[in-house]
Amino acid sequence: MSNNQFGRQGWTPTRIGNQDGKTYVITGTTSGTGFEAAKILLAKGARVIMLNRNAAKSAATVASLKEQLGDEIDVLNVTMDLAEQASVKEAAAEVLEKADRIDALICNAAIAQVPKRVLTVDGFESQLGVNHFGHFTLQALLFPLIKASKGRIVTVGSLGYDMGLKTIKFDDLNWENDYTPNDAYSQSKLAQIMCIYELQDKLKQAGVTGVKAYACHPGSSRTSLIATSGSWMMRIIFGLMKLSPLTQPAENGAYPMLMCATEPTLDQSAFYGPTGRNNWVGPVGAHKLEPHAKDKAVAEKLWQVSEMATGVSWTI
Ligand SMILES: NC(=O)c1ccc[n+]([C@@H]2O[C@H](COP(=O)([O-])OP(=O)(O)OC[C@H]3O[C@@H](n4cnc5c(N)ncnc54)[C@H](OP(=O)(O)O)[C@@H]3O)[C@@H](O)[C@H]2O)c1
Repeated sequence: MSNNQFGRQGWTPTRIGNQDGKTYVITGTTSGTGFEAAKILLAKGARVIMLNRNAAKSAATVASLKEQLGDEIDVLNVTMDLAEQASVKEAAAEVLEKADRIDALICNAAIAQVPKRVLTVDGFESQLGVNHFGHFTLQALLFPLIKASKGRIVTVGSLGYDMGLKTIKFDDLNWENDYTPNDAYSQSKLAQIMCIYELQDKLKQAGVTGVKAYACHPGSSRTSLIATSGSWMMRIIFGLMKLSPLTQPAENGAYPMLMCATEPTLDQSAFYGPTGRNNWVGPVGAHKLEPHAKDKAVAEKLWQVSEMATGVSWTI
């Protein structure tokens, strides 16, 4: 018998009901899992506000969604580069102006396996800056509307949280020493999910029960991730992996985030993703999370350091 709460097939989007009147904000929808998630939510009648950095790609994404789903879909793009805190702040202000509710903010965009250490304009190592600090600021600034909407925050992490150092390198957050693409990516994804579990604690302490926060990952999905930011060697390795049954279509990679954004009864303390081989593919559900992802002392310090670094304070 399967111990997946959704049975042997795991969670699938057939569980999503009519989404008329609901608004989802999703980062990184020009390709991969973010595109598939936006498409499924739009097909169910939701309004989707996409946050993307590249205006031409965003326009092509809107055109492709309309071509596939019809002109009547309610989709809007707001330009945001997660690598620039100023851009994230501007985009958040624009979203607050244009949206009257947020049922879920899905933090999906990322770069990965950046071959050489690069700093963002704000001086952050690029993966930490884009994946973690960019989304940390976005979440904090959109939180008031999410709270008013009794909405959710969903972070798309990675199994990389359990690779590399498996903790936060507080004495050298921006990798002046010993940079490797995988260690820096893994730290950024660990930071992202640690902040979700820390947010759950903060919500509880503040007595805020209406907002839910979830961490998930897409397993090993055939997307543009490595082609966008990885080295030639990584592109070749992942190119070969894409031919094997150890990867799944991008659409399946979107299921965990869609489940976390829409499924009524989910345990926030869990980690969601594929439950098949290595957690890379297979039926979607909750699976094991290693304890370092919930190290309380590290999470509290990371939250403080992130508020200091971004200059953004959460009001919960
Ligand atoms: N694919 C996998 O096997 C895998 C495994 C583990 C975790 N993940 C996670 O899954 C999520 C989705 O990735 P994916 O695999 O679907 O990759 P993808 O196809 O490369 O999509 C990534 C998206 O993020 C956007 N993005 C990158 N940098 C950005 C920035 N500075 N500002 C705004 N948007 C930015 C990209 O936009 P552009 O088009 O402008 O580049 C793109 O829309 C990520 O969080 C990733 O860490 C993926």
